[in-house]
Order: sequence, then structure tokens, then C-alpha cells
Amino acid sequence: MKHLWAVAGLLAFVGTAFWFNAVRHTGGSAHGTQKEATAGARNVGGQKESLERLRSIAYLERYIEEVINKGSSQNLGFAYGDMPAGMADAEAAPKIAAYVVSLAGLEPSHPEWVKEGRLFYISNCGGCHGEDGKGVHGTFPDLTRVPLLGIAKRIEAAQRAERRMEMGR
Ligand code: HEC
Repeated sequence: MKHLWAVAGLLAFVGTAFWFNAVRHTGGSAHGTQKEATAGARNVGGQKESLERLRSIAYLERYIEEVINKGSSQNLGFAYGDMPAGMADAEAAPKIAAYVVSLAGLEPSHPEWVKEGRLFYISNCGGCHGEDGKGVHGTFPDLTRVPLLGIAKRIEAAQRAERRMEMGR
């Protein structure tokens, strides 16, 4: 009898794990298709979907990579001004992004990149953003805040668009 309960428990656990995974994969994708994007612009349901995407870890990783490769001139309100492009190699960027995600206490899509990413981070980013990623108040942004400032701006813009859409109906 005890045996049976153990088997039932295991099955329930495996089932839940599969379900979680499925939800993560459908909700967490940062690579929306063109079709999804246009649908998103047309209906409020689509807007909600795009809000979810903006909050996903995959999006956070892509955003960090983009900032590394292209720099950041978003007027985020720091005394230093803009972050120049190419502070690290494009090849190292996804690994650094995995490490920065882990600094924020989140689970990166590729946990196996964190260790290497940390080394790149310390030599390429730590000088400004601090080894702990917490930045320097007023001068360099805290990379452990959730959502990051640039993403928060995009979320606010998407919410404004959603409200306009709701009013227009
Ligand atoms: C020379 C100093 C400097 C270095 C080195 C540097 N950054 Fe930055 N970073 C900044 C500044 C300043 C900003 C704010 C720019 C703005 O207002 O758009 C910033 C912004 C960012 C943002 C956006 C923050 C947000 O809240 O949206 C991310 C992500 C980021 N940096 C990651 C990195 C990573 C990863 C590295 C290493 C590859 C790095 N930075 C190296 C100065 C630096």
C-alpha cells in the first residue's frame, strides 16, 4: 500500500514538472513570429501576450545581450551618461547575460553558461556595475533590479498601448 502511494506521488510530480515546462515554453518565448507580432498590435489579448513576453527571462537575456552589443543610450538617468557598445565580445554576450540573470536571483535559460559568464562579467562590466551587479547609486545602474529600467520603460509603453486599445473599442 505504501508502495502504491509512492508511485502515485511520483507520477503527480512528473506530471506537474511537464506542465510547468510546457507553460514556460509557451509563455516564455522571446522570439515571437511576425504573425504573433501583428496579432499583438491588433487585439488586446495579443497585447497581454506581449506584456508576458516582456517579463520573461528569455526577453531579459536578449535585452542584456542587445545592450552589450549595441550599447545603451536610453537616458536612464545616470550621471555617467551612455554605455558604449562592445563592452564585451558578441560571443561572450549570451554567457554574460546568463550570469547577470543569476545575479538577480533568477534562473537563466542556460545555467551552464553562468560560470564562464561570471569571468567575462568581472573583467568587462564589474568596473562600472560593480562585482555584485548592484551598480553605483546615481552613476551606474543596478543590474539586479527586476525589471531592468529599460525593460520597465517598454512594459509601460505596452501598457499604455493596451489602455489606448481598450478605450478605442
Ligand atoms: C564604462 C562603464 C560601463 C561599463 C564597462 C558597462 N556598462 Fe552597462 N551601463 C553603463 C551606463 C552608464 C548605463 C546607463 C546608460 C543609459 O542611460 O542608457 C548602462 C546600462 C546598462 C544596462 C541597462 C540597465 C537597465 O536598467 O535597463 C545593462 C543591462 C548593462 N548596462 C549591462 C552591462 C554589461 C553586461 C556590461 C559588461 C559587458 C556593461 N554593462 C558594461 C555603464 C557601463
